[in-house]
Amino acid sequence: MRAAVCRAYGPPDRVAVEELDPPTLGPGQVRVRVGTAAVNFPDVLLVAGTYQIKVPPPFVPGSELAGEVTEAAGDVTAPAVGQHVFGSTLVGAFAEEAAVAASSLTVVPPGVDDRVAAAFGVAHRTAFHVLKSVARLQPGEELVVLGAGGGVGLATVQLGVVLGASVTAVASNADKLRAAAAFGASHLVDHRTGDLRPALRQVLPEGADVVVDPVGGALAEPALRALRFGGRFVTVGYASGEIPRIPLNLVLLKGVHVLGFQFAEFARHRPGDMRRNDTELLALLASHRAFPHIGAAFPLDGAAQALACVAEGKAVGKVVLDITGH
Ligand SMILES: NC(=O)c1ccc[n+]([C@@H]2O[C@H](COP(=O)([O-])OP(=O)(O)OC[C@H]3O[C@@H](n4cnc5c(N)ncnc54)[C@H](OP(=O)(O)O)[C@@H]3O)[C@@H](O)[C@H]2O)c1
Repeated sequence: MRAAVCRAYGPPDRVAVEELDPPTLGPGQVRVRVGTAAVNFPDVLLVAGTYQIKVPPPFVPGSELAGEVTEAAGDVTAPAVGQHVFGSTLVGAFAEEAAVAASSLTVVPPGVDDRVAAAFGVAHRTAFHVLKSVARLQPGEELVVLGAGGGVGLATVQLGVVLGASVTAVASNADKLRAAAAFGASHLVDHRTGDLRPALRQVLPEGADVVVDPVGGALAEPALRALRFGGRFVTVGYASGEIPRIPLNLVLLKGVHVLGFQFAEFARHRPGDMRRNDTELLALLASHRAFPHIGAAFPLDGAAQALACVAEGKAVGKVVLDITGH
């Protein structure tokens, strides 16, 4: 099979396509003929060797996929051979075939293609768990989304609108803000045009109820300052490369709640919430009320370029690799 391979840690251009033996199937796994894989920020970090989990090279990157089950280990009861599935894994998705734990896969609802399914799981599930169970967003509330043109950010904009909030999107260029507007954002703020705090005060004079921050860095503090008394700030990621430090006197004076979300910890500590949210989100996907914006698609041979697009923050919404589909 053909696969993109990382033979040494480094920038995205270390990744190149090679002919490999198909992966062997372990207990609890199914073999997936990968239709589409989606690119996520942690894939870049795994290739760079700077992610919290290290995978020794050589390895096939790729943590999110959709495709058809072609074989199942003897102990697997579902999904069945022939079903289309989507889900995530640590590595291995940038290949024609992947061996994936059956328990981490979901059957693709009728009428949803591999591309949409592949690009849906990580970003939309993160956004939905954050909004429903961490921020506890209520209809009519004012939600500010940083990195609103990125994968998690755009999903947060869309699901915030679905949950009845008024959404202010903060991003770095017109393409990203256009995508956020198409997903229902009411206010658009380009953070490159000046100080974020006055820009947010202008559109939200009464302050925001919730800020969702997948970016970190210099934008976090002015966004937190834009909260009303008692508002909620949710830290989700640090795509800027910088973990912000918030002066605690701001928290004291404004009476705000600073909250965090991390997928594995949420799954471990709140499995009931996760199951309930995932069921609700799958229904939104099946009814086409929730879907990813796919900003760029590459063939498998373009894996390095796809990783670079995400590494440089250029992606609008999700970046995908069309492997055996399309
Ligand atoms: N906590 C969790 O469980 C969880 C789950 C999923 C993802 N995450 C994390 O959330 C973050 C965002 O993920 P994503 O998939 O939305 O990423 P993405 O699609 O690449 O979007 C990230 C956004 O960050 C901004 N950014 C600012 N400086 C950047 C830089 N130096 N490089 C890249 N982007 C930069 C960009 O927005 P502007 O151009 O508008 O500034 C970009 O659109 C990542 O750190 C990821 O690891 C965490």
